[in-house]
Amino acid sequence: MSEKREISRRTFLNYALMGTGGFLAAGMITPMIRFAVDPLLKHSAGGDKVAVGSIDEFGAEPKRVEFKVHTKDGWYESESVLAAWVTKNDKGEVTALSPVCKHLGCTVDWNKGEHENEYFCPCHMGRYKIDGAHVLGTPPTKSLDLYETEVKDGKLYLGKIKPNPLPGVTG
Ligand code: FES
Repeated sequence: MSEKREISRRTFLNYALMGTGGFLAAGMITPMIRFAVDPLLKHSAGGDKVAVGSIDEFGAEPKRVEFKVHTKDGWYESESVLAAWVTKNDKGEVTALSPVCKHLGCTVDWNKGEHENEYFCPCHMGRYKIDGAHVLGTPPTKSLDLYETEVKDGKLYLGKIKPNPLPGVTG
């Protein structure tokens, strides 16, 4: 015996409103959480430099790396996972960009969908060029932060996060 269940228009509207509300709440809460942990990320990147791979792995195309840093704040010790987008030009100069959007702190991605050859932030359509310069007319007003870099014994090390002085560019 099959039981047919139907939902009323009111129930359907309730589900639709709950779904929309949840989606909007997630969009607002994510940047708030990033704001709350941002000082931790900055602090934890301020210690010794961390090896993220062989320098030969990197080239003109941005490559994402993740690395762990140990944080000690009074009695509290923790490990955080940070990420960077790394490029190396033909002179061997390395750039390591923070993926944290300078608008409200969402995470940018490289070369996603129709956003070819740029970093794109899906939260409010923020855009950045390959060197991290923010695209004028999109929400971010600063360029993506940079990590200090060092190459030693064939390995790339990343250190503190510092502001990227590049001005905005037209897209
Ligand atoms: S957080 Fe708003 S554009 Fe990235």
